[in-house]
This record gives sequence, C-alpha cells and structure tokens, in this order.
Amino acid sequence: MSSMNDLILSTSALTKSFGGLIAVNDVSLDVEKGSIKAIIGPNGSGKTTFFNLITGVFPPSSGHIFFEGRNITRTSMHQRTRLGISRSYQITNIFPYQTTFENIRLAAQGCSGARVNFLGMLKKAGTYTNFHEKVLEIASIVGLDPMRLYIPAALIPHAEQRKLEIAMALATEPRLLLLDEPAAGMAIEEIPEVIDAILRVKESYGDQLTLLVVEHKMDIVMNLSEEIFVLSEGKMIAKGSPKEIQENEEVLTAYLGGTDEKLA
Ligand SMILES: Nc1ncnc2c1ncn2[C@@H]1O[C@H](COP(=O)(O)OP(=O)(O)OP(=O)(O)O)[C@@H](O)[C@H]1O
Ligand SMILES: [Mg+2]
Repeated sequence: MSSMNDLILSTSALTKSFGGLIAVNDVSLDVEKGSIKAIIGPNGSGKTTFFNLITGVFPPSSGHIFFEGRNITRTSMHQRTRLGISRSYQITNIFPYQTTFENIRLAAQGCSGARVNFLGMLKKAGTYTNFHEKVLEIASIVGLDPMRLYIPAALIPHAEQRKLEIAMALATEPRLLLLDEPAAGMAIEEIPEVIDAILRVKESYGDQLTLLVVEHKMDIVMNLSEEIFVLSEGKMIAKGSPKEIQENEEVLTAYLGGTDEKLA
C-alpha cells in the first residue's frame, strides 16, 4: 500500500449531481506519483465530469480532492494549473489560425513564472534559455512533424492536432496530466501513433509526470496503463490491472449493456 506521500492525486467520495442526475457518484481513487493510469467507461459514465472536478471547472456536490497531499477541493481552476494540473480536451482546443509552433509557445508563455525551470530537468545540464527551445523539445517529445511546425494548426492532419493538444498541455509544465480521449475522432490506423506519443511523453518525463487517461475504447488503454478504473453511470464499478479488467464480468456487462460501438 502506498503512503499519502506517494500519491499525487486522491479523491474521496467525490460526487457531482446535475439536478437529479448523479454524473459522478461516490468515487474514491488514488493515483501514485509517476504512474500512468486510465479511466474507462461507456458514454455518459462520468469520465469527463470527473476530469472537470479534478481541474476545478465546477465544484463537487460532495467529497474531496487532494493533490500532493493538499486539499484542493475548493481551489480555483487557475490555481490548480499553477500547482501542476493540466489537461487536454475531448474536443480539439487549438487556435486554428496560429501555427503549430505558436500554439505551443502561447501555452508555454501562459504559464511562465515560478516553475519555468522545471522542464530543464529533461536536459542533462542547464535550463531552457527561451521559449523557442522549450517548444521544439516538447514538439519532438510528442512526435510532431518538424516540417509542419510553422503552418496553421488547422492545416495539419487530425492525428497531429491531437498530439499538438498534448504538447500544449505539457507546455504548462504539469506534474499531473489528464488526457480526455486523446484518440477521439481518429481513424483506426492513426491510433497507434497517439499511443506511441503518450508512451514517449511518459518515458521522457519519467517520475516527474503522472498521467491519467480517459477513454471509452478499452483496447486503447490496455497497453498503456498500470491500473484501470472503470466508471459506469457515475460509479466506480471496478479497478485493477488491464488483465483483471478484461476478465471482470461486471465490466463486460456494463459495456455490453450499450451499443456495439462501446466494445471497440
Ligand atoms: N455541465 C453539465 N450539465 C448537465 N449535465 C451534464 C453536464 N456535464 C455532463 N453532464 C451529464 O453527466 C453525465 C456524464 O457525462 P460525462 O460527459 O462526464 O460522460 P463521459 O463518460 O465523459 O461520456 P463520453 O464517453 O461520451 O465522453 C451525462 O449524462 C451528461 O449528460
Ligand atoms: Mg467524455
């Protein structure tokens, strides 16, 4: 069992109601520092709402959120970004007329300040001297095509746009990165590219970065995560290793309860 010190994120009995609908229902989970974990569940099971609670988009109806041991349940969204929580969105959130480079640079600039040297840890010696160097390093980590860094982001392929979003989230120097369906809207053959990008990010940052990935397609997270949490109708119905989850009857039932698409 992990001690409180090893945890970067911990929720206790986290609950969010929208009127009569309980979107997130009594969810308690722990995420260890430096780990890569996933939240899966059918459409509408509360995955994005859970991320919205972690990032402070809205307050929970009840329950608590702890980040690195600190109670952030009522902390502002802006303050949580400063503490080191960042996310990418289920729906692409880039500036389409800005270049790829500029999108990352703007995200980096938005967070310049106290922790500006954090990414310097990636380098053997020294720190970044300017945003230019930082942008190029992040672009290379997520595997953005260097030839396409200087054209409007709207014109790069969809898979590259999803990697750009991960790059923008990384530019804010997070310690916890939340990815909401990073492969959403992708053709099946583009998916491995995004999985590779995520694994490369994890490898590059090592224990300095913790990843929590939301997906509704089970197969995407199977090779990616150490532990999987399963939501169904707002409740956490299972957690375990990819193998345990694959064999869990209740999980299979939750997925089979819907359309075939959810099984993919
Ligand atoms: N701001 C909101 N106001 C009212 N209801 C909401 C709001 N956000 C989410 N919901 C509802 O909460 C439930 C959970 O939605 P959520 O977006 O968290 O699901 P999800 O697991 O991310 O689904 P998907 O796989 O489709 O992205 C849904 O019934 C949704 O309609
Ligand atoms: Mg969602």
